[in-house]
Amino acid sequence: MSDEVYDLTIIGAGPGGYHAAIRAAQFGAKVALIEKYKLGGTCLNWGCIPTKALYASSALIQKLKHQGEDFGVICEPKLDFAKAVERKNKIVEELVEGIEKLEKAWKNDVYFGKGKIVGGNKDEGFKITIEGENNATITSKRVIIATGSSPALIPAFNIDHERILTSDDILHPDFKTVPENLLIIGAGVIGCEFANIFRTFGSKVTMLEYLPNPIATEEPMIIRELKKKLDELEITLHVSQNVLSVENTGNGVKATTCSADVPRDQVESAEKSEFEADLCLVSIGRAKESSDLGLEELGIETDRGAIKVNIDTLETACKGIYAIGDVTGGVMLAHVASYEGEIAVANALHSIGGFPVHPETTDYSVVPATIFTNPNIGSVGIRRSEAKDKGIDVAMGRFPFESLGKAKCMGEDEGFIMILVDKSTGKIVGASCIGAEAPELISEIAVAMKHDLKAKDLSEVIHSHPTISEMVLESALDVYGLAVHRKGRPDIDLYQK
Ligand code: FAD
Ligand code: NAI
Repeated sequence: MSDEVYDLTIIGAGPGGYHAAIRAAQFGAKVALIEKYKLGGTCLNWGCIPTKALYASSALIQKLKHQGEDFGVICEPKLDFAKAVERKNKIVEELVEGIEKLEKAWKNDVYFGKGKIVGGNKDEGFKITIEGENNATITSKRVIIATGSSPALIPAFNIDHERILTSDDILHPDFKTVPENLLIIGAGVIGCEFANIFRTFGSKVTMLEYLPNPIATEEPMIIRELKKKLDELEITLHVSQNVLSVENTGNGVKATTCSADVPRDQVESAEKSEFEADLCLVSIGRAKESSDLGLEELGIETDRGAIKVNIDTLETACKGIYAIGDVTGGVMLAHVASYEGEIAVANALHSIGGFPVHPETTDYSVVPATIFTNPNIGSVGIRRSEAKDKGIDVAMGRFPFESLGKAKCMGEDEGFIMILVDKSTGKIVGASCIGAEAPELISEIAVAMKHDLKAKDLSEVIHSHPTISEMVLESALDVYGLAVHRKGRPDIDLYQK
């Protein structure tokens, strides 16, 4: 496959890259997709999918353990961790194979190896070398970099992949240990998801977080509810902790912290605390995979590893080369990477000419996000604090799961949904939810937001009964004080112009 000339080459086959490759082929482009490890990237191999497979095992245990008797189903659930891991591995393998088949079906050439752009320009094409399983040099009229991210490593945390681990280690197909005591550094999204999973699997879990709250970007009301749940599960959370170092002590791990309030130059003399456990998960963010791609020579700049792009078109400073997904350092979510792939493909193919595409610009106003703790958390659009900063006066509709018939039947009566509406226009500007099916509920609101709908428009949609989706209906009605199963006060008038 050497010396081939392609319309578009994509480096990295995560949800950004593999989607982009399929989309470009659907528009008739000749496509090369380069991957140094496995198709599916972080999402399929080390991220979204394997965590959610383990989450499903943990959710089943929680359901049976805490509610089985109430439901009239009497059994004592017992974890077979090796089996849960085997199930997770099988799901990953099947999905990766599925992507391989799809790329083949679209006649995309997949090269396994490390891709590097070694020169060229948009008029003559770019030269790309591939080193690894497939060694080749190819030419491509346009390039999309979709090389993603990997766990952030801090030297003082001494990650040894034995006792001091990253999420990659815990999700490794051969990882088969449920530690008695698990220490988690960072109570962000990864930390909270794994805390919930391993606590249910039987570990004593302690989380150390630098900020005053876990998952600090969510609505304060959602964070309060999550903290309540962490307490109930007896997950210990220490906030405002600056973790200074982690060591493998031979038969365990030890983390040393000081208060996050201590100024950087006084850390050495500050009072320290120590936390011990059998294993430690370090989940303090992700590093962008932008090294050794030939960027500097092409005049492409990075900022702390993140490839700089034109935020509208996703083109880099080197015309004809685009970057998408985690490597650009934006919102690090699989669906954002895929969305950006769509935009970059349209712009790249349009710039070549002869393909049925129009130039596209990005729009990040409606990005749903979900956190798979138990209960799940979902959010979209802006939070109340952001509305205040932007000078938007918002009305709020709120509805608790405990007031919904279907939620009661499912034994899912914890949590609530809140919907934010711009008082001046009646349009929905954001929503947050913690509770059963939160991610799906947020999707409905995302559709409404994308199409500039008002809460009133949502309230006029007949929702099937009994369903969890009635949470959306009731919260939309609550904006006008008209929720049927909750006595609220109108925040705005239903017939507002
Ligand atoms: P990646 O998925 O990282 O893919 C990049 C690919 O490029 C990799 O396969 C890599 O091997 C390859 N590559 C790198 N350099 C080269 C090179 N030089 N040559 C060839 N190939 C190269 N997001 C969600 O939306 N929902 C979730 O539930 C969720 N859960 C997550 C759980 C965990 C534990 C983690 C770590 C992440 C999770 N994420 C989740 C985030 C999500 O996985 C990422 O945002 C997403 O995978 C980013 O996609 P990407 O295509 O930009 O990069
Ligand atoms: P994160 O940014 O969500 O959380 C990292 C946490 O570590 C932060 O709260 C930070 O304050 C804390 N921290 C950093 N340094 C610290 C120190 N020295 N001491 C104590 N605490 C410290 O990053 P995380 O959890 O690693 O996730 C990475 C990305 O993966 C996220 O951007 C997220 O978008 C994505 N992801 C998405 C999921 C989903 O959509 N369900 C699931 C898992 C990950």
